[in-house]
Formats: sequence, C-alpha cells, structure tokens
Amino acid sequence: MILFKTTATLQHYLNKLRNKSLTIGFVPTMGALHEGHLSLIKESRKTCNITVCSIFVNPTQFNDKKDFEKYPVTIENDIFLLETNNTNILFLPSVNEIYPGGINKLQHFDIGYLENIQEGKYRPGHFQGVCNVVFRLLEIVNPNTLFLGRKDYQQYLILKKMMQQFYSTVNVQAVDIARESNGLAMSSRNMRLSNSAREKAAILNKALHFIQQNLSVRSVDELVQKAKDSILENGFDEINYIEVCDAETLLPVTNETKHKQLIALAAAFIEEVRLIDNIML
Ligand code: PAJ
Repeated sequence: MILFKTTATLQHYLNKLRNKSLTIGFVPTMGALHEGHLSLIKESRKTCNITVCSIFVNPTQFNDKKDFEKYPVTIENDIFLLETNNTNILFLPSVNEIYPGGINKLQHFDIGYLENIQEGKYRPGHFQGVCNVVFRLLEIVNPNTLFLGRKDYQQYLILKKMMQQFYSTVNVQAVDIARESNGLAMSSRNMRLSNSAREKAAILNKALHFIQQNLSVRSVDELVQKAKDSILENGFDEINYIEVCDAETLLPVTNETKHKQLIALAAAFIEEVRLIDNIML
C-alpha cells in the first residue's frame, strides 16, 4: 500500500494508472476502521483494479463540536487493516488539502428536503459538510466507482443525488450493513461504548426487526411506538427518531401498499453515543 498526503502526488500517481487503463475504486472514510469499512474495501477489490481509501475526519460534517473532538483516531491500526486487506492506496489529506479556501467557505449543495429530515433534522449542516468533502475527494481521486455503506442510508441517497448532478460518470455502489454477532451495526462510535452498552445496543436492531416482522399485522404508528418503548426500556437514554419510510424518497409512509420498498430507520443515544441503524422491510 502506498500512502499519499498531498493531492498533487496522489493525482500524479493515479494518472499513470489511468493511462494503463486500470479502473479505480474509491472508499472514503473517517478512519477508526472496522469490518464495515473493510467490506467496502473488499467490494472495491472485487470489481476494480486499484482500490483507494481515504481517511479524513471531516470537521465540516460535525454539528456537535464534542462529537468531533471525541471521534476515535486509530491510524496505526487502520493502516494495518488496510494493508492486510490489500488496499493499494491510502490518501491521508490535511484540512488544507481538502479545504484550500478554509472550512468556513463551503459550497452550497441543493439537497432539497432530504437535508432537513431524519439525520438532517437532528444534525443541521451535516449533509452540506458531507457533500462538500465527498465532492472535493471525488475531484481529487476521480474514481470509476465510489463505494458507500447502506449503514448511512440517507447519506447514500444524498450523495447519489449530488453525483447525478456533478459526477454522472462515476458509478455508485452501495454495500450492505456489516453487523456484530448480536446484530449491532458496526460503527466507529461503538468504540466509545462500554462492553455492557455494546451488548444492550443490539436492541436498536432488534426493535427494527420487530417492526419488519409485524408490519402486516399492526399499524406503523403502533409498531414505531412499541419499538421506541423497548429501546428506552433496554438501555438507550434518548431517541432522535424511529421512522418507517419509502426507501426511495425517505418520506413517511402513508399507505403501505402504495410503496415499492419500505425502510425503517432509527437514531438513538446510549452512554451519550449516538447510534444509527436501518433495515429494509
Ligand atoms: P465513515 O463513518 O467512516 O464511513 C465510511 C463508509 O463506511 C460509509 O460509506 C459508511 O456508510 C460505511 N460504513 C460504516 N459502517 C458500516 C457498516 N457497519 N456496514 C457497512 N458500511 C459501513 O460515512 C462517513 O465516514 C463520512 O460521512 C464520509 C462519507 C467519509 C465523508 O466524510
């Protein structure tokens, strides 16, 4: 694996590969890597000749300063995991490389209503930050395919939309959620949980399964209420949202039979750590 810290050196190297007609897969991350990230790397290895991973804890997507400061940094272990999973290139840029004009001069992206619902409602500005960093990373890496996890489903939909407008030739490939054996969705933030909270946090996924299994026999409102009750009774301190939505639009379900594919999404706090999860219904 070759590590690049500057845009110029990375681009110079990638251009040489492109001239040899090698295809480039790109996996952007914020580090603190786990099996979820590695499943994206593996997917890229399967379909592209060269796999580039970036690690950049993007300051502009954290609406909560404390969350940014507490974001886990495990770079040595990340490098080890990337190496042992045959990643070709690691891009480790500084803030200056990504935001040459400074982090206060962000571009505005037209995300529409997706910016203000679910994650957007509870994390104002978050998706503008995500679009800014991914827009810039795509400009630098110029990959054939971008790999994104379904764990951040709303992010995936928003980036797909952004890319239709600005990077329509780049393929977007979604990868399924990697989970712990108890069902907990893998997340860098899980590192901040005590062992007992990691066990308890599995209730988030179980509650979504409960909605999935009972959708044909009970109303959405009733199921969402029951899911909320069981999450709060089993260790979570606060819920931001649990919603059943149309999987294409993320708009709330009005009449179940009208929608092609439904999704249940949740965000809740345990030990002051905010976890998200979703499940196709
Ligand atoms: P990060 O949370 O590090 O996630 C990087 C990528 O890994 C995202 O596409 C995310 O959806 C995926 N991922 C995380 N956990 C996963 C899991 N359990 N299963 C499958 N995929 C998983 O998402 C971000 O970083 C940032 O917002 C980023 C896109 C890098 C922009 O800064």
